[in-house]
Amino acid sequence: MLLPASPAAIRRAAAALRRGEPVAFPTETVYGLGASALDPEAVRKVFAAKGRPDDNPLIVHVTGLPMLRGLVRSLPPAARALAERFWPGPLTLVLPKTRAVPGVVTAGLPTVAVRVPDHPVALALIEAAAVPVAAPSANRSGRPSPTRAAHVAADFPGLLVLDGGAARHGLESTVVSLGDPPRVLRLGAISVEELRAVLPGLVVATKTRARAESPGMRHRHYAPARPLVLFRRSRAAALREALAADPKALLLCADADAPLFPGRRPVRLGATPAEIAHGLFDALRTERRGSVLLVYALPRRGLLRAVMDRLERAATRVV
Ligand code: TXA
Ligand code: MG
Repeated sequence: MLLPASPAAIRRAAAALRRGEPVAFPTETVYGLGASALDPEAVRKVFAAKGRPDDNPLIVHVTGLPMLRGLVRSLPPAARALAERFWPGPLTLVLPKTRAVPGVVTAGLPTVAVRVPDHPVALALIEAAAVPVAAPSANRSGRPSPTRAAHVAADFPGLLVLDGGAARHGLESTVVSLGDPPRVLRLGAISVEELRAVLPGLVVATKTRARAESPGMRHRHYAPARPLVLFRRSRAAALREALAADPKALLLCADADAPLFPGRRPVRLGATPAEIAHGLFDALRTERRGSVLLVYALPRRGLLRAVMDRLERAATRVV
């Protein structure tokens, strides 16, 4: 059930959370499927509804640093510096957990992932429920993350969804672990360059390490509505040949790259990195006009590095 996120609807969703019922809500990144992080039964319902493997831990959403007390054992100086710069915002910090956080939330890990969302509805909901809210992206496991309330309703008919319009970023939060050195476990809406301005020693975890430390990175993700073939930027000629060979194939590329493929009207992903990130998951979910989606890769800089990570994980094949 879609409800415009009025104060009354937020109160109703908060009451549902307190009763142990999952609800979906907007954040600045993507929609989340929330449950009280202190209620293991409610959290189990989230795993069951998503069909999520139980080895994949959830992010706990709080309204600010005071609510973190009791959930994490310590806040190292590097974490504090990142929190001061980027919260509320699309940054998730992995910190040592206390016993107050049930093991089902963290999939048995000794750490908990936490963030303060930068969205008035998300903050009002957590505030009204007065509990930390464990929330994965509100999609069935393996599907692209939902950037609109209608995407959530399509995956979960009957679920209470607070409709806050299209998500501002359209890409999930960046997940950072605070070891030595600090590591990006999942690329996301805050770029590596922005993080390095605060923590120059920050590294991006190798794929192997990210899979070992962040179980979500092991699982199939972002399956689009049609098979997707990703062409590297050095393979424009191969992409032109593939298009010539298959009139039913649909081309997706950045606006600036469209002239490389004359004679074919592409789905334009956007002119700026923010625009491209914003529309990506919607395109993956809803683009059914071709028999196959042929995507021309984007330059791996700033926000587009995270977009490329999602495209690689959505791809059936990379050429
Ligand atoms: O923007 C977002 O992060 C959205 C909104 C709703 O906040 N949430 C989201 O959650 O994308 P989810 O569950 O789809 O992805 C959470 C990621 C997974 O890759 C998971 O493995 C990782 O965070 N994660 C969670 N807890 C962790 C932990 N303790 N250690 C390492 N990685 C963790
Ligand atoms: Mg997800």
